[in-house]
Amino acid sequence: MNDFLNHAEVRQIAKRRLPRGIFEYIDRGSEDENALQRNRGALDAVRIKPRVLTGGGVRSQAVSLFGQTHEVPIIVAPTAFAGLVRYRGEIELAKAAASCGVPFCAAMEAITAVEEIAAASSAPIWFQLYLWDKDELWRDLIERAWKIGVRTLVLTVDTPISANREFNTRNGFGMPFRYSARNISDVALHPRWAIGVFARYLATGKVPSFANYPAAYRSTILGRGAARSIRHESDLAWENVRRLRDLWQGNLILKGILRTDDAILAAKVGADGIVVSNHGGRNLDSAPAPIEVLAEIVDAVGKQITVIADSGVQRGSDILKLLAIGAKGVMIGRSLLYGTTVGGMSGATRMIGLLRRELDIAMALSGCKDVHELDRSLLEMPGRVG
Ligand code: FNR
Ligand code: LAC
Repeated sequence: MNDFLNHAEVRQIAKRRLPRGIFEYIDRGSEDENALQRNRGALDAVRIKPRVLTGGGVRSQAVSLFGQTHEVPIIVAPTAFAGLVRYRGEIELAKAAASCGVPFCAAMEAITAVEEIAAASSAPIWFQLYLWDKDELWRDLIERAWKIGVRTLVLTVDTPISANREFNTRNGFGMPFRYSARNISDVALHPRWAIGVFARYLATGKVPSFANYPAAYRSTILGRGAARSIRHESDLAWENVRRLRDLWQGNLILKGILRTDDAILAAKVGADGIVVSNHGGRNLDSAPAPIEVLAEIVDAVGKQITVIADSGVQRGSDILKLLAIGAKGVMIGRSLLYGTTVGGMSGATRMIGLLRRELDIAMALSGCKDVHELDRSLLEMPGRVG
């Protein structure tokens, strides 16, 4: 099954393998999916003007992020529920990250606790945080992360409330899952997932839940368990970031920035980096594609803080374009979830390998030996962008 050759192929196999409710949760956008389509449209609209006769030889993709060198300019994006695509999916994906020399960003809303992930994988583990409406709970959580060696915290700032995703409502996908004839038959129609993933969790006595949540607040996806409830802080403001900055001694990254003025504020409050992201087109449906705003953001803050980008990246050439504009690394979400769905660690490793190979080919064909040589002179940008 691991013979897929690109994102489109692995997505197709994952689509057959996963219950529709889970596949759509991963694959789709929000509302009318304008942002989702825009991400691809904007990446495709940028052309690379190849430089010829620059000689052959060995090419390097190695980048340094926060003082650590990584072989490939990829970071595994934080994704909630990733453990549902495969039995212990987060661990499989984190092991793949380790084998490819890339950082793994664990999601706060993962099915596997960050401690377990860190114990199973030698990849540098970053941790993505949503602030809860109870401060002491997220404070405990970042302390837990610090204790196991997490030194890079990614605060997601683009999700003060849940986005409008009507297909999730239709599918009964949420926390907890809603039972309906439709989603029971959805699971029954995907026996490989029902037996290979869900039944395996049940057999170990662990109904999937958000394992990073404190026990009293942790309910299973079947809706049992939690005595109390917590929610994301909906009153999220710069003041919260200032307090987090005071508490957290490691690197702090703000994920979900799309404006120059916000990027400047991020640098001012002491963030070490930002992720220019529209959350993979999953949140505000009228948001710009990151590649449309990346140049102005890099120009404003790129010398002070580390700028990372994501959303819609499916090919090595997409990575090349974002790096040429000035991103220092690129996060990948869906492609790696699909690799994990199809082949666990080896599927995710294969997907990272394919992206790496595509980037290498794109570099070779455009006359570039080192990712640090990439710059905007290589690109033809559409319209006013760049
Ligand atoms: C996400 N993303 C995300 N981001 C975040 O900060 N916290 C989270 O819990 C999640 N959860 C999540 C679940 C799933 C299924 C997906 C697909 C994405 C967004 C993610 O980190 C990243 O920004 C996008 O996935 C990047 O776009 P691509 O690569 O998926 O196109
Ligand atoms: C998502 C949330 C969990 O994108 O960030 O699904």
